[in-house]
Amino acid sequence: MDFQDIVTKLKGFSPTPELDARIFCDGRLPTQNQIVEFIERRKAGEPVSKIIGEKGFWKFVFKTSKDVLDPRPDSETMIETVLSYYPIDNKALKILDIGTGSGCLLASLLSEYPNAVGVGLDISDAALKIAQENLKGLQAKLIQKDFMLPDWFQGIDTFDIIISNPPYIPTKEIENLENAVKIYDPLLALDGGEDGLNAYRQLAKTLHNVINNTTKVFFEIGQGQSEDVKTIMQQNNWKFLSAHCDLGGIIRILVFEK
Ligand SMILES: C[S@@+](CC[C@H](N)C(=O)[O-])C[C@H]1O[C@@H](n2cnc3c(N)ncnc32)[C@H](O)[C@@H]1O
Repeated sequence: MDFQDIVTKLKGFSPTPELDARIFCDGRLPTQNQIVEFIERRKAGEPVSKIIGEKGFWKFVFKTSKDVLDPRPDSETMIETVLSYYPIDNKALKILDIGTGSGCLLASLLSEYPNAVGVGLDISDAALKIAQENLKGLQAKLIQKDFMLPDWFQGIDTFDIIISNPPYIPTKEIENLENAVKIYDPLLALDGGEDGLNAYRQLAKTLHNVINNTTKVFFEIGQGQSEDVKTIMQQNNWKFLSAHCDLGGIIRILVFEK
């Protein structure tokens, strides 16, 4: 089977057969068995990234798996926003990534700031193993913690930059998500509780334990959550600084300070 055969077989199953085939074949010489497996898994709705175990994000290709949320183009707004607040220089910034997953956000930022150090925190041991690979060679430490625990911050330092893309889908909406997400991304990365806002409520109440005088907090949020997340933060004495849209024009990142 050659490239064109793969495209033909994917037609009717994938909305992007040419692109899928190109990504699958790029830099590889797949065996016939691997090609057959790829087509079968793609026909079943599995995203190309999960099949090949890689996803492009920002300037890099990151490892991905069933245990982590696939890096999303929308989340690149996080990197752009942090860079707009902290133009690249040699400052030894300390960055905390809460719910690091694949580590794509932390790895992208550490690659931009040569002297920065980072901590990635996640409840999932399996996710942290993927993050470990994606953060190889960077100044990062990984910690397994449940940030929903009242004292999750015990033993954790203070940071200049805190980023978080927590789970934010309301529980009831998960069944309506497309299969590529609902089946192939981990539920832990998606389920934000009844209204999707549990993580923001908890972080609004506890993040003051890991900040210094100038710390900025950067939250990724779901579509339509901007006003609710602002209210939650303001009720906990955080000052709203700015909102930033993704390429689709949806408010995706909110920035706060104490
Ligand atoms: C939406 S994913 C974000 C992953 C990655 N930061 C990104 O932007 O692609 C949320 C992450 O939070 C983690 N998580 C969910 N609940 C958690 C909790 N209570 N404590 C710590 N991490 C949690 C999940 O395991 C998942 O990796």
